[in-house]
Amino acid sequence: MKVTVVGAGNVGSTCADTLAVREVVNEVILLDIKDGIAEGKALDIWQKAPIIGYDTRTVGVTNDYARTAGSDVVVITSGLPRKPGMTRDDLIQINAGIVKSVTENIIKYSPKAILIIVSNPLDVMTYQAHITSGFPRTRVMGMAGILDTARYRAFLSEALDISQKEIQAMLLGGHGDTMVPLTRYTTVGGIPITELLSEDKLNAIVERTKAGGGELVKLIGTSAWHAPGAAAAQMVEAIVKNQRRIFPVCIQLQGEYGIDNCYLGVPVVLGKNGIEQVVELHLNDKEMSMMRTSEGHVREVMNVLDKLNKNE
Ligand code: NAI
Ligand code: 2OP
Repeated sequence: MKVTVVGAGNVGSTCADTLAVREVVNEVILLDIKDGIAEGKALDIWQKAPIIGYDTRTVGVTNDYARTAGSDVVVITSGLPRKPGMTRDDLIQINAGIVKSVTENIIKYSPKAILIIVSNPLDVMTYQAHITSGFPRTRVMGMAGILDTARYRAFLSEALDISQKEIQAMLLGGHGDTMVPLTRYTTVGGIPITELLSEDKLNAIVERTKAGGGELVKLIGTSAWHAPGAAAAQMVEAIVKNQRRIFPVCIQLQGEYGIDNCYLGVPVVLGKNGIEQVVELHLNDKEMSMMRTSEGHVREVMNVLDKLNKNE
């Protein structure tokens, strides 16, 4: 199995590193537009192999798409990250052009690949990759939900003083302040979270989760990469090992949840064909109303992208 990671910056190199350390595939190609950066980071990861003890070969290339040929999965992380004071949506103009050109190059050499988009604004960059590739929606998806639920689970683990391994959660909607963590679908060792944590504390954690990306941007001065890179690698692993795991993933909805042609995070089964199944939850009125708000926000940014593509 061969995986390409486009963008050898913070998120891309962390994703490649996780794929190597976990020996998810035999070969990882790391590609960047900046001369030498992918080569250097791939070499550094490969030189870690004798210390940690893995056999995955990491190879870096500068814009040489021929070397990515025949990739089974491609993770796209190329693009600007946000700086303090910016929203993810502020990145659209530059990142849309980057995601478009990267997708065009990738599909020339890997027409059967499954694409995982990470670049922000996530939901709309998934839309860009979907329309540019013309691939079926089952092979074009965005990574955000695994990261957002991981943040939520980490906060819950800390508040409860219980292992994060016990905490299961689901989250819907766009990757932004309108995301919808589902407290009704959050359990700790099989116990509903509402039996273990007061409503006030739970609400505070939900709000912190929604602003989780911004909290890190303020602290670091750029966006996070350890958890995002690992989250993208977890999606790759589920696909290449045909694990059929359920994760929240951004995909084009085609009538599910009563929503058509909008890119939002929903639970899906990930396996060898990419999205094997979209899981439709029975949402109550409050949850559905939050999902609609998130949909409205994503649609606004999709409209901005449509205008950008029309004026090209
Ligand atoms: P970074 O600045 O560290 O790395 C981005 C890399 O993309 C750079 O090395 C740059 O040279 C490369 N690049 C730019 N244009 C390119 C092109 N046309 N072809 C190939 N490579 C190109 O940024 P970082 O922190 O790795 O973030 C990457 C993206 O991921 C950002 O848009 C960020 O907002 C997004 N992100 C998304 C998350 C999510 O949950 N979906 C989480 C964290 C970051
Ligand atoms: C994050 O949530 C900025 O989308 C990035 O960390």
